Amino acid sequence: MLKNKHILVTGGAGFIGSNLVQELLAQGAHVRVMDNFATGRRENLTEFLSNPKFELFEGDIQVVEDCQKAVKGIDAISHQAALGSVPRSIAFPHNTHSTNATGFLNMLHAAKEEGIKRFVYASSSSVYGDLAISPKVEGVEGSPLSPYAVTKMLNEQYAGVYARLFSMETVGLRYFNVFGPKQDPNGVYAAAIPKFLDKLLKNEAVTINGDGSQTRDFTYVKNAVRANVLALTTDREFNGSAVYNVACGESFTLLEVVEALREGLVQRGIHSTAEVVHGPERPGDIMHSLAKIDRITSEIGYSPLYTFPEGIVEYVSNYPVDNH
Ligand SMILES: NC(=O)c1ccc[n+]([C@@H]2O[C@H](COP(=O)([O-])OP(=O)(O)OC[C@H]3O[C@@H](n4cnc5c(N)ncnc54)[C@H](O)[C@@H]3O)[C@@H](O)[C@H]2O)c1
Repeated sequence: MLKNKHILVTGGAGFIGSNLVQELLAQGAHVRVMDNFATGRRENLTEFLSNPKFELFEGDIQVVEDCQKAVKGIDAISHQAALGSVPRSIAFPHNTHSTNATGFLNMLHAAKEEGIKRFVYASSSSVYGDLAISPKVEGVEGSPLSPYAVTKMLNEQYAGVYARLFSMETVGLRYFNVFGPKQDPNGVYAAAIPKFLDKLLKNEAVTINGDGSQTRDFTYVKNAVRANVLALTTDREFNGSAVYNVACGESFTLLEVVEALREGLVQRGIHSTAEVVHGPERPGDIMHSLAKIDRITSEIGYSPLYTFPEGIVEYVSNYPVDNH
């Protein structure tokens, strides 16, 4: 179904984007990546550079002309480009807004002008905001807790409007804490799992914000890739727009994550002596996050390829340890 289709992946030099590119190329698609390397890494793309079906377009989604160039000759889009991180969005809301909201609208509009119907995009579990109900079900959202969450809610609103006005098919994927290979462990805005693993490998203290009892529906990146492929290829008539939770439907505490990573390292013969220390809770964070995945399962046939423990085993067993 993807063979010889021309797919644009924005943010393709990033963590989820580069994993998606690998699968799209494996399924025979032509892939164009648009990225400005704000947080993405060139080495995430190295393995694709010799593939004649791969093309890199260095461009910025904040620039309308770049978006117009990026969509030329494209059949469908997976829009992953954004500035992640709740704390970053609290510290620098304008940057987050410009990339995640204005940049999103630029891409959506460029797609519409080019006559591209299928627009798949990265939304986030953060759209559930302060909603106390668990598990989270599409259609029942709370109030946003950060500028980042506001931008992802805006994405869904714009996607819905463009679908209704211009007969586009927009599919928002609400990722729940994705982890896996090519995720950056460095920097103050790094995600928890790669940061924890990096600290364990260096035998440095693992800092958990809060008491570690907060829970997340951690999702191995191959599950997120699968959701993208299904959303790009499904024959389902969307009647406009759809939003789906992308998760496993099972949650784990941060303390359990550290222990699962430690155990994964033991399986590789690495015994980390790193201790866990606790820092202050982070503003904008939610205590518990768990998804119901019935809608994406029944509507486009998604099921998690990996449970959280299976994902951790694969992640740790392939993690490059040479530079530690
Ligand atoms: N990782 C998660 O757990 C998670 C959870 C929920 C939602 N998301 C969303 O999934 C998407 C991918 O996230 P990720 O974890 O791979 O992050 P990432 O930072 O690794 O990837 C984002 C990519 O977008 C690129 N980018 C940023 N600004 C750009 C701009 N102005 N123009 C062009 N490219 C730009 C970056 O350089 C990077 O390559 C994002 O939209 C993010 O908000 C991620």
